Amino acid sequence: MSQLFGKNSKGEEVYIYTLKNESGMMVRFLNLGATVHELFVPGKDGQSVQVSAIYDDPLSYERETTYFGAIVAPYANRISDAKFEIDGQIYETDANNNENSLHSGINGIAKKIWTVKEQTENKIVFTYDAKDLEQGFPGNIHYEVTYEVTEKNELSISYYALSDKKTTINMTNHTYFNLAGALSGSVEGQELWIKASHYTPVKDAKAIPTGDIAPVDGTPFDFREAKAIGRDIRQDFDQLVYGQGYDHNFAIDKASVGFEKIATAYAQETGIQMDVWTDCIGVQLYTGNFMAGQKGPNEHTYVKHGAFCLETQYFPNAINETNFVCPITEANVPYETRTVYAFSVR
Ligand code: BGC
Repeated sequence: MSQLFGKNSKGEEVYIYTLKNESGMMVRFLNLGATVHELFVPGKDGQSVQVSAIYDDPLSYERETTYFGAIVAPYANRISDAKFEIDGQIYETDANNNENSLHSGINGIAKKIWTVKEQTENKIVFTYDAKDLEQGFPGNIHYEVTYEVTEKNELSISYYALSDKKTTINMTNHTYFNLAGALSGSVEGQELWIKASHYTPVKDAKAIPTGDIAPVDGTPFDFREAKAIGRDIRQDFDQLVYGQGYDHNFAIDKASVGFEKIATAYAQETGIQMDVWTDCIGVQLYTGNFMAGQKGPNEHTYVKHGAFCLETQYFPNAINETNFVCPITEANVPYETRTVYAFSVR
């Protein structure tokens, strides 16, 4: 159920683990970053379509700052000035994105070798144990990520973490989806619906939120009715100019505190629809704005907007922003969230 993929720069072995269901879905994972590697889902006319942007060697996964498919922990997206305070104590993490931290630093947990605790036909559990102050974050933290491929063609991701100190945790998965096929070019024609009447605008191109939770009404950020991802992407609207496309957190209109459908994407070419379900309060829509020239399999060159990410999360920089829900995890209290990417054909 596993095969050697290659070695990382430290000479550690990186393996591919394959899960399958009886309904035509097959997903391959890496122990490097507990990464979603290949994601085959059924499309129309019986085709099997690989919908996740990948590299074909471990060194590219390690080197590139795209975070293709990786589990990001402890803290997804940005932390301003790479610093935060918990109970009067200042903690510093890596400033790997201007003066700010992105995805917990360049050599963070997303680039580490995880342990496989359990694997069956359709389920795999990855674990990682971080030491106190690893990447600057307080607490010895035990992480468990459980991936399941269900018979309904869902990829379910359960996130669990337990720290022995009060800390901040905001985990996500960074899969880059292209529902017309990972190597098919721009996703601008693919449709997207997001259940969000607000989003969090950023200050400038460095993408730290202003702290406002702004209405999407009358802006290119209104995805409350499905529209092509590229329909408004080139509008002369500051927020789109900063990130060269969408690279923003949406504040989900939660019906309750529970688990619900928050986004749907669709590619007409393959008929593949993907519904996103989560219990998180935010989702980062990132339209592959900095995909440009990275090499995929068979010498494929990824193009700008060659995929989109829907990263479920707390809001970026929430640990420093009083207007946002603060992602604090108390000592010995489990952090748990769940996100499902559900595939169907229409
Ligand atoms: C960030 C982008 C970044 C990308 C890849 C996204 O979550 O918001 O700014 O370029 O991840 O690192």
